[in-house]
Amino acid sequence: MKLFSSVNDITDLNSLVAEALQLKQNPYAWQHLGKNKTLALVFLNPSLRTRMSTQKAALNLGMNVMVLNLDKEGWALELQDGAIMNGTTVEHIREAAAVLGQYADIIGVRSFPGLKDRDEDYSENIFSKFVKYCGVPVVSLESATRHPLQSLADLVTIEELKTKQRPKVVLTWAPHVKALPQAVPNSFAEWMCKADVDFTIAHPKGYELSTDFTQDATITNNQDEALADADFIYVKNWSAYEPYGKVFPGNEDWMLTNDKLKNTNNAKVMHCLPVRRNLELSDEILDSENSIVIHEAGNRVWAAQAVLKRMLATL
Ligand code: CP
Repeated sequence: MKLFSSVNDITDLNSLVAEALQLKQNPYAWQHLGKNKTLALVFLNPSLRTRMSTQKAALNLGMNVMVLNLDKEGWALELQDGAIMNGTTVEHIREAAAVLGQYADIIGVRSFPGLKDRDEDYSENIFSKFVKYCGVPVVSLESATRHPLQSLADLVTIEELKTKQRPKVVLTWAPHVKALPQAVPNSFAEWMCKADVDFTIAHPKGYELSTDFTQDATITNNQDEALADADFIYVKNWSAYEPYGKVFPGNEDWMLTNDKLKNTNNAKVMHCLPVRRNLELSDEILDSENSIVIHEAGNRVWAAQAVLKRMLATL
């Protein structure tokens, strides 16, 4: 595998999930694969889970890891081709990406959207330029529109904990105080549409996601109706796709509570984290046995390790 940026880079989803679960049982079996190979993780935005789980995954595979917080520690990046760089930017992404490719065998990149210009964000300008100019395999650590390592870990978690062949999985919008990207829900929707699950999305009016990602999912504005008989509930806030990046007032009653779990199939509750307690998700849920958010975050290691293992195999 030379690129991991979406579910479309995977031809055998079930075997990738199975591989992640095998690695969980036997984390150090492939240490020889990463010997003398280097992973560079490049962050243009903050991270706890993605940073630590991907490092851990690489170390399990015997790799060396370097981390660069490019937004804080690197030179100010110029993205525009043909720019006369007489302003604040110091280094063009063409050189920055190409130089990083001289130091690493695989590069991971995190680049969030600006949430101002939808066309710019959905063109994946920054991530695509890293891929184009670095010359080595690239794994997305969350781009403007997708978070595939998170979605793989989510699918691994569902596969591991499901109690029926085809569980009902509900992605439900949650309140927040600021505009958040659509990357996690886009990605989760895209992966669930390819998985063997009964998938529903619930959100208040105005928070429709792009149909490029929601595809044939059942979509409703009635949260109670969506949650009925759910086996897994994925809680996540996102800002509007149209008008882009907008947050509408109200909808605080969309926060998941124990009362809302009553009509579910004793649903397991997921969230990619970080989560704002008692805004997105109540204490009573997060501290209950229904919450599997820590287990889910733990599975980030095995998802990343499965992807890196496949990339190492093609070097
Ligand atoms: N879920 C997730 O990607 O967490 P971080 O932003 O902390 O990496």
